[in-house]
Formats: sequence, structure tokens, C-alpha cells
Amino acid sequence: MYPTQQARYTFAMLNALQEIEKSGLAELAATEDADALEQWRIAYLGTKGKLKTIMPMMKDVAKEDKPAVGQRLNEVKKTLEAAFADKQGTIGTAKATGPMLDVTEPGLPMGQGRRHVLSRTVDEITEVFARMGFSVADGPEVEDEWHNFNALNIPEDHPARDPIDNFYLQQGNDTGPLRLLRTQTSTVQIRTMEKTQPPLKVIAIGRVYRPDTHDATHYSMFHQVEGLYVDRHVTMVDLKTSLFQFARAYFGPEAEVRMRPSFFPFTEPSAEVDMKMKIKGEYQWVELGGCGMVDPNVFEAVGYDPEQWSGFAFGLGIERIAMRKYGISDIRWLYENDGRFLRQF
Ligand code: DAH
Repeated sequence: MYPTQQARYTFAMLNALQEIEKSGLAELAATEDADALEQWRIAYLGTKGKLKTIMPMMKDVAKEDKPAVGQRLNEVKKTLEAAFADKQGTIGTAKATGPMLDVTEPGLPMGQGRRHVLSRTVDEITEVFARMGFSVADGPEVEDEWHNFNALNIPEDHPARDPIDNFYLQQGNDTGPLRLLRTQTSTVQIRTMEKTQPPLKVIAIGRVYRPDTHDATHYSMFHQVEGLYVDRHVTMVDLKTSLFQFARAYFGPEAEVRMRPSFFPFTEPSAEVDMKMKIKGEYQWVELGGCGMVDPNVFEAVGYDPEQWSGFAFGLGIERIAMRKYGISDIRWLYENDGRFLRQF
């Protein structure tokens, strides 16, 4: 190869470097965001970028020119890298530095959450009654005497009002009606009838409070499902049929309902409800709550005409249902939030 030809290669290489430096800086100055900056980095400094692609020209440069050309190459590279770093500082690094998240890294094992066995029972019961045409009603946990007692035909001197059996709330300077934590979801019967005209068919599920000493079957807070059906000509047969249908749907085809005469101020006649349910493969009778035909005094308290309307009501303990259905022998486990217990359901 002739020296003149080699000199041309040196010249061409230096020219190319000059051009890369000039256009590189100009284009860099024009970039406005991290995306554009990254495009620029790929175009100029990347493994297939302009600087890399002129490298092979080096081998044609005259031997004696190589150090100077190499130095110039380094210089241009450093200039562009420094300018890039500067620009990165002003634009931000979010995208320009490449992926921040390594999607190929194995993830951390995560514990799987689940619904509490009581919430699950509540959902299941709600669903069964919904299929039978009951809609869901609701009421407050802090109640007044009217809804917890008076309207439910519980007289002033009734032992159920005893402070030892109720959580009455401090009144302070408040001279308003006496308040307490509701002891039964029957309060929602009153609240629903006060604002709805018959016919109606509702259930109410919620917490109730009683100052009981905690043991395997007692807790100072528990849940009830209340049912109320008011229409013309409702009878005990409708009551028993509804409870029977519920028992079958929830506890299995062999389940049955048994009623034993009892007394509640808000129903006449009244009965205790037992349900036959499958426990560890065998059917057994379990007492679940009370029921009866709505007392005419209750209808009068909410302004319904007892001559026109009749109805049934029931109230069942949810914890009892859950404990029997899922084989839980101590009510306290439901409230201790021990993962080892809760993970079983
Ligand atoms: N409220 C009663 C209790 O807490 C249960 C009950 C009995 C509810 C009879 C009713 C009913 O609706 O008709 O023990």
C-alpha cells in the first residue's frame, strides 16, 4: 500500500471522528427526555453505535499515525460519555440506565391470605337465604332501649334489661336516650319495619354483645343471623319450612329441623330451634337459637296493622353454626387470630 493511500485513511478516520463528535454533541443537546437520551446512547456509545462501527478503519491507518488517531478516538469517546453523563443528570435516569427491575430474579415466596372461617360462614349463610328470597338488612351495634327492648315487647321491669346482662354506655352530660351495645339482632327487625312497608323478607347478620365470662362456648361478642318474613297469612308452617330448607341447603340432605316450645317476648308462639347436622360424619341435633310468630305488640310498635299482617322471625347463633359445621370445639379460637388455627379453613 502506498503511503499516500495510508495518509488518506488516517485523514478519513480523523474526519469521521470529528463528524461523530460534532453531530453527537448536537444531537445530544437536542434530546429532551429519557427515551430520546437512551436512543442517543445506543446510536453513539452502544455496542453497534457509531464509535464502535468506525473501529475497523483503525487497521488501515498508517502505523506511525496509530497512536495519535487512537488518542483522538479515546478523546471523542470520553467527550461523548461525559456529555452523556451530564445530560443524564438533568433529564433523570429512570429509563436511560436500562431496566431498573430484573424480571428474571426469582420472586420472594409470599404467604397466601384467606377469609376468616367466620366470614366464610356468614357469606355461606347469606347466600343460602338469598336463594330463598331473603334480602339483607342492617342496623347499628350501638342501640337505644326502644329498638333493643321496648319495641320488642320487653317490658321496663324485665330481667333482660338488668345492667349485669347488658353493656350500657356511659351517658356523661348527654341527656339523650339510654344507649347500649345491642344484645340481639332482633333490633334490626324493628329498624327494618320502621322504614319499610310490608310485605318484607329479610335477614340481618351482625355482632351482638353480652357481658358473659369467656369459656369454650361463651364470648362477650358473637354473631347472630336474624330472619323476618311479614306478609298476609304467614304461618308456623312457613317458618318451619324456611328453617328446614336452610338446614338442608347448608348442612346436607339428611338435615332436619326440630322446634321445642319456648318463650320470647317478641314472638307468640315461640320455639327453640334445633337442627340436625352432620358432625364428623354423623347427624346430631344441635340447638341453634329461637324463633316464632311475630307478636302483635311488635307490629303495633312499628305501625303495622296486626289484623292485616302476620309474620315469623328467627334468630340463630353464627358461631354455633360455624363451630358445628367446621368441627371447632372452642369459641375463643375464632377470636385469637392464631394463624395455625385459621390456616386450617
Ligand atoms: N333474639 C333472641 C336471642 O337473642 C333469638 C330470637 C328468638 C330471635 C326468637 C327471634 C325470635 O327473631 O323470633 O336469644
